[in-house]
Amino acid sequence: MAFAAPAFSAEEVNIYSYRQPELIAPLLERFEEETGIQTNVLFLDKGLVERIQAEGVNSPVDVILTVDIGRLTEAKEGGVTQPVESELINADIPAQYRDEEGEWFALTKRGRVVYASKDRIGDIPITYEELADPKWKGAICIRDGQHPYNIALIASMIAHHGAEYTEEWLRGFKANLARKPNGNDRGQAKAIMSGECDIALGNTYYVGLMMTNEKEPEQKDWAEAITVLFPNADDRGTHVNISGMAMAKNAPHPDTALKLMEFLASPEAQEIYAEQVFEYPVLPGAEASEIVQSFGEINPDTLPLSDVAAHRKQASELVDKVRFNDGP
Ligand SMILES: [Fe+2]
Repeated sequence: MAFAAPAFSAEEVNIYSYRQPELIAPLLERFEEETGIQTNVLFLDKGLVERIQAEGVNSPVDVILTVDIGRLTEAKEGGVTQPVESELINADIPAQYRDEEGEWFALTKRGRVVYASKDRIGDIPITYEELADPKWKGAICIRDGQHPYNIALIASMIAHHGAEYTEEWLRGFKANLARKPNGNDRGQAKAIMSGECDIALGNTYYVGLMMTNEKEPEQKDWAEAITVLFPNADDRGTHVNISGMAMAKNAPHPDTALKLMEFLASPEAQEIYAEQVFEYPVLPGAEASEIVQSFGEINPDTLPLSDVAAHRKQASELVDKVRFNDGP
């Protein structure tokens, strides 16, 4: 007997995500409610491109969700994405926030800012450059230097100042660390609260997520201990990165994949990013949440993200060369 297709086969879309479950759950729930399309998500913290390459033509993934210009470029260069041409998406996402060939699209922006102790530091002007100034000796906390968020920042320093300057800067920065790089961005806010350090680097949206965290309410105290400083606000601007999406090369469900991507680019989804995930929407005219606006206005560094991506490898080599992760 021939195998008949089930009469009520639900439509579905398969997602591989570098993004944390809590950051995409509100979006996927809304998408499922509105379309009846089931979303299946596999969360990964590394090896996404390699995994899809190994799966080849049998790969089940339809849509890739990730953060960082580097990871989006890696996916394209690794040959695991396919071009998407959608008038709806292109109307919502400005050209500077999508790949020319439609192989990836940015969905949100985030600033890599300084978290500063409210009590011990307060609201002061600050620059990335001065993180290497001995006046900050023993004061700075940061996560792993090789984390994509830090690599993108260091790559932007190379793009602005050259590799030689950046190497010296990294040596000075490392000498100012309060401890070996470890933990995630939220952990640095916790370390400021406990007095282990006075300033730290972290992404903007984590502050909103900590401030509103009902699951782990102690995170509200971490957020309460810090104030957000926008580095280089008065000169070249604060380093920003993006989160984004791509259609997988061998997507078995290209139709539902496109529907999901169009939803994620829509004003409705952009509002969810802003209000529930505390990111800056890429949609022109869409506003950040009140909480994020309370940090102050961001003046984003206008360096093209392609320049950041181009210096990532060199940034990673410098982190190793100066043994940044060994700590002070
Ligand atoms: Fe993150």
